[in-house]
Amino acid sequence: MTNSERPASSVPTPKSNRRKLFVKSYGCQMNVYDAGRMADVLAPEGFDETAVMEEADLVILNTCHIRERASEKIFSELGKIRELKDEKIAQGGAMTIAVAGCVAQAEGHEIFRRQKAVDLVVGPQNYHRLPQLLRATQDQSHVLDTDFAVEDKFDFLTPPTKEKTRARGATAFLTIQEGCDKFCTFCVVPYTRGAEISRPAAKILAEARVLAEAGVREVTLLGQNVNAYHGEGLDGHIWPFERLAQEIARVPGIVRIRYSTSHPRDMSEGLIRAHRDIPALMPYLHLPVQSGSDKILTAMNRNHSRAEYFEIIDRLRAVRPDIALSSDFIVGFPQESDEDFADTLDLIEKVKFSAAYSFKYSPRPGTPAASLPQLPESVKEQRLAAVQALIETQRQSFHAQALGQVVEVLFEKPGRKAGQIGGKSPYLHGVHCDGPVEMIGKLGHVEIIATGGTSLQGRLLTGEEP
Ligand code: SAH
Ligand code: SF4
Ligand code: F3S
Repeated sequence: MTNSERPASSVPTPKSNRRKLFVKSYGCQMNVYDAGRMADVLAPEGFDETAVMEEADLVILNTCHIRERASEKIFSELGKIRELKDEKIAQGGAMTIAVAGCVAQAEGHEIFRRQKAVDLVVGPQNYHRLPQLLRATQDQSHVLDTDFAVEDKFDFLTPPTKEKTRARGATAFLTIQEGCDKFCTFCVVPYTRGAEISRPAAKILAEARVLAEAGVREVTLLGQNVNAYHGEGLDGHIWPFERLAQEIARVPGIVRIRYSTSHPRDMSEGLIRAHRDIPALMPYLHLPVQSGSDKILTAMNRNHSRAEYFEIIDRLRAVRPDIALSSDFIVGFPQESDEDFADTLDLIEKVKFSAAYSFKYSPRPGTPAASLPQLPESVKEQRLAAVQALIETQRQSFHAQALGQVVEVLFEKPGRKAGQIGGKSPYLHGVHCDGPVEMIGKLGHVEIIATGGTSLQGRLLTGEEP
C-alpha cells in the first residue's frame, strides 16, 4: 500500500509525553556505567533511550578528560550537535544539550564559553540530580553542577529495583569504588573524580542481586582503584576487595566476576590468593604498569618499582598459572630516555601480556608532569609504534595458544553472521560459533577451531540448558 492509499486513521494517536534521550560515553568503563545510571534516573522523568541522536530531545555527552585528544574531540562533537539543535529549533522543535563526565568537571563554565548551545554541565558526582537540573534549564540558559556531592550519588538506587537498575544483557558493570588519592603526576582523575570512596558492601550486593535477577551472569566491578576497595562490610567491619568479591560470588545467578582497574600497589596477598580460591573470579587481570623504567615510575609517582611489578606477576602466576594479563603503557613521558624506553619493551617481553593499551604521553592541565620539558612528538610516535607492534605479537601468540583448546564461553549476543552467537572466554578472548540465540546469557563449552582478527572461532560442544 502506498502512502496515498492509506486510509485516514480513525484512531487518534495517543498524545505521549515520553521524550527521547541520547547518551554518548567516552573514556573508561565507569563512564559506561554512569551513562546507564543517567538513563535510569531519567526514565521516571519520561525519557526513553534512543540510539539515534537526531531524534533526541536530550543529548548527553558523557566525556573523558584523560588525554588532550579525548577532551578536544568533545568540542568538535558539540559543534555538530549545535547544528542539529539549530535545525530542530528552525522547525519549531527543541533539543537540550548536556555535557557530563570528566570534561564537565574539569572545564566547568569554560564549556559554555566555547559552545553556547550547551544548556547543562554536570559533573560525574552530580548526575543523580539530572531531573532537577533539567527543570532549571527551562528558566536559566546555562546550568552547572560540578560540586563534589556530599550525599551519596548512588543512593537513588537504594533500594535498587528492576526499574531503577535495568540490566542490559548477560554482563554488567557495577561501580564499587570511585575516585583516586594516588596522584600519578600525569593523571587528571584525582581532580575529576575526587577523593577515593568505597560504597558499602550491602548496597553493592543489593545491586548485584537485582542485576542477577534480571539475567546478568557476569559483573565487572569498577573503580579507578578497584583493588583499593575498603568499604563497610555486612558485619560492620571494613572489607577488603577480595572479601567483597567472595560475597558477590555467592549471589545466585552470578557465575563470573571481573574487576578493573587495579593498581600494583594494592595487589595484596589476600587478593592474589582470591584468584586461587574464588572460582568465579576470572583468570584475567588488567594491571597497568605504565613504564618498565624505575626512573620513570618514580617520576610518575607510581610508588612501586619494576622488580615489585615482576614479583606481583610471579605470585599471581604461582596461584593461577593460566591467568591472562593486560596493562596500560604511557610512552614519551618527560625525561624518558632511549634506555628507559628499552626497559619498557623489556618488561613487556618478560611478562608476556594477552593484550595492552598504550598511549603517547599527553600533558594535562594542572598535573605536575605537564610543566616539565616535553619530548618531541616524533619520539613519542616511534615509541608508540614499537610498543604497539610488540603487544600485537603477544596478543597474536596468546590467541594462537587457544587453538584446539576447549574454553567456557558466556554468550552475550548474536554473532556478526546469521546463525552465530558470540561471547567471551574466561581470559576475555572474544569467541564466536554457530549456535542458537537461546544460548545468549548461558555458558557453553567451545572448542577453538580458528584464530585470526580480533576474535576466536569455535565449535559449540555443550552448553547450559536454554
Ligand atoms: N586508575 C588507572 C588508570 C586510569 S586512566 C591506573 O592507575 O592505572 C587509564 C589509562 O590512561 C592509564 O593507565 C594511563 O595509561 C593512561 N593515561 C592517563 N593519563 C594519561 C596522560 N596524561 N597521557 C597519556 N596517557 C594517560
Ligand atoms: Fe590516575 Fe594514578 Fe589514580 Fe590511576 S592511580 S587514576 S593513573 S592518579
Ligand atoms: Fe576519562 Fe574520567 Fe574515566 S578522565 S578515563 S572518563 S575517569
